[in-house]
Amino acid sequence: MALFSPRRAPAPAVDMSRLPRHVAVIMDGNGRWAKRRGLPRTAGHAAGAETFRTIATYCRDIGIKYFTVYAFSTENWKRPAEEVSAIMGLLNQYLREAIEKMERDRIRLHFWGDLTPLAPELQALCRETGRISEGYDGMEVNVCLNYGGRDEILRAARALAAECSAGLRCPEELGEADLSAHLWSRDVPDPDLVIRPSGELRVSNFLLWQSAYAEYYFTDVLWPDFSKAEMDRALAAYQSRSRRYGGVDGR
Ligand code: IPE
Ligand code: IPE
Ligand code: MG
Repeated sequence: MALFSPRRAPAPAVDMSRLPRHVAVIMDGNGRWAKRRGLPRTAGHAAGAETFRTIATYCRDIGIKYFTVYAFSTENWKRPAEEVSAIMGLLNQYLREAIEKMERDRIRLHFWGDLTPLAPELQALCRETGRISEGYDGMEVNVCLNYGGRDEILRAARALAAECSAGLRCPEELGEADLSAHLWSRDVPDPDLVIRPSGELRVSNFLLWQSAYAEYYFTDVLWPDFSKAEMDRALAAYQSRSRRYGGVDGR
């Protein structure tokens, strides 16, 4: 229920034969959603987790191949300890339920980000979902957890520098593909569409390298209110764009 949202126009038709291969979402606005209802911020995170389930399932059903979500950034540790632990608790609960359903849904779940600061139990659940995912061929869902675009690029740069100083690589010969190969996203095509709900017009350290030529879709809708119809609006907007990659239209 979009309590405070203006009435939305009906969702436009989406051409299912021209879907983006990879959709990424900055799941933002949980706190404001809760505040507007006089609820604690953690209630917003719980509602956001439900929206994630709905939208991930919708993406799988319509045939999106890769779905990447920003769940917790390297900067989100600045939040009050109770909020951080509530978010981690929700993740824990989500993964336990997901593990039971993975066989049925055949969704491959991967994590992008440094998991070592997380509680050992949560790390073990992440490893377990990764292990179960091997061998599945369904949609790939990447959960960005303790993820930062700068942190990711820095780690890749360090790894390449180490290879160079060990004499394994020569700096002059390094290309973009070498850096991409050291990112969490290796083996995954760059996002075609990046969605940010909640009205903020910034990327907040999300997929900085990978989204060089992504199409952006910004909406005022808060993530817990984000619906399948809103997803259709994002997909239709994507389909209306001309992606030139610095070239000219082939008309
Ligand atoms: C996004 O919602 C969830 C996380 C960053 C973990 P927020 O908690 O940032 O919600 P707002 O932006 O305060 O409304
Ligand atoms: C980005 O949202 C991070 C996630 C959604 C996980 P934030 O709420 O942390 O971003 P800022 O602070 O508005 O830039
Ligand atoms: Mg936010």
